[in-house]
Amino acid sequence: VSLRSYNSFGIGGQARFFATFTSIDELKQLLENPPLPELPHMILGGGSNILFVRNFFEGIILKNEVKGIEVVREDDQYVYVKVGAGENWHGFVMDCIQHNRAGLENLSLIPGNVGASPMQNIGAYGVEIRDCFHELEAYHLQDHTLVTFNNADCQFGYRESVFKRKYKGQFAIISVTYRLSKHPQFNTSYGAIEEELKHMGVQELSIKAISQAVINIRSSKLPNPAEIGNAGSFFKNPTVDAAKHAALKASFPNIVAYPVADGDYKLAAGWMIEQCGWKGFREGDAGVHARQALVLVNYGNASGDEIYRLSQRVLDSVEEKFGVELEREVNIV
Ligand code: FAD
Ligand code: EPU
Repeated sequence: VSLRSYNSFGIGGQARFFATFTSIDELKQLLENPPLPELPHMILGGGSNILFVRNFFEGIILKNEVKGIEVVREDDQYVYVKVGAGENWHGFVMDCIQHNRAGLENLSLIPGNVGASPMQNIGAYGVEIRDCFHELEAYHLQDHTLVTFNNADCQFGYRESVFKRKYKGQFAIISVTYRLSKHPQFNTSYGAIEEELKHMGVQELSIKAISQAVINIRSSKLPNPAEIGNAGSFFKNPTVDAAKHAALKASFPNIVAYPVADGDYKLAAGWMIEQCGWKGFREGDAGVHARQALVLVNYGNASGDEIYRLSQRVLDSVEEKFGVELEREVNIV
């Protein structure tokens, strides 16, 4: 099976086998019957946070297409909505807004599916899913058990969870239950949102207005994967301690940094990459996006390996100029 249409980077290549499942029973059947038990396998969602670096995946790709959006509980304050892992993320966010359920509006227009949202605790514009996450159900691919994880069990961090660490490759997330609020608490802490709301002429704040502001900002700087292949931010924004921040600030007075917990600072990797001269760089079909240097792009026929090698050059130059080591955010397969 050709992989090109299954990843937002638009990287070509083949997988030996490919299958979809729409329920736990279908997944179980696949896992128990030949040829699967002997083969390496990976769970695929929307393919928007993956870079395939080899031309051939010697195994089976299992695409999660478990659907459904269902209210499972409700009280005066909250609605608990259980969502199938194969539902489109933005479609689910739009469904919340339509039903006036608040909490995820700042996460509008993030590509991919609901099942991957806890993988890296997706976040944008001042909100992370852990703020509204209630629980998830995940199927253990070896033990064949269905396990429930609550918020603490997931060990969420910035672009992190237990599923990227200790349990990497062990579970298929089947459904995620979100706790949405009936009484919205608007989060406009991210400066650009305030600006955009003003620009839009919004008089009365609403989750719909915030969602639209986020959509406008994102559309203005992030490349649309339907037009230019990419997987969003290729690197994480690194954290440094106060001493390192002070030293950097002395050498680079314009450095973009935000205070975080424990006196540490988070640095804008996009700014550092731009300072190294990469913004808008292109070699063959591999490049660094002209409006957002944190995003690596495939203009058409770049190979996964070419993108990966470019990412290494970017990483090396940031290390050399700033003494800061960037970490890749995209999942390398
Ligand atoms: P995939 O790429 O299919 O999979 C990602 C990883 O999760 C893989 O390792 C896969 O094996 C695993 N996985 C997927 N589904 C399951 C499952 N059901 N069970 C177990 N494992 C699974 N991310 C942000 O956090 N914030 C942003 O603002 C943001 N902006 C983006 C903008 C653009 C233009 C793009 C292209 C990407 C952006 N991303 C962002 C990254 C991406 O959208 C998210 O990481 C998203 O959650 C990936 O979902 P997916 O279904 O496409 O996952
Ligand atoms: N910046 C530059 N040059 C650039 C890019 C950014 O100077 O080329 C500066 C900006 O001017 C700004 C700062 O860096 O001062 C932050 O930029 P931006 O608001 O665009 O956010 P980001 O830090 O680059 C992060 C997330 C995004 C998320 C946005 C909004 C990470 C790794 N990335 O990007 O997530 O949408 O904030 O919250 O944390 C993703 O994960 O794929 C993703 C797109």
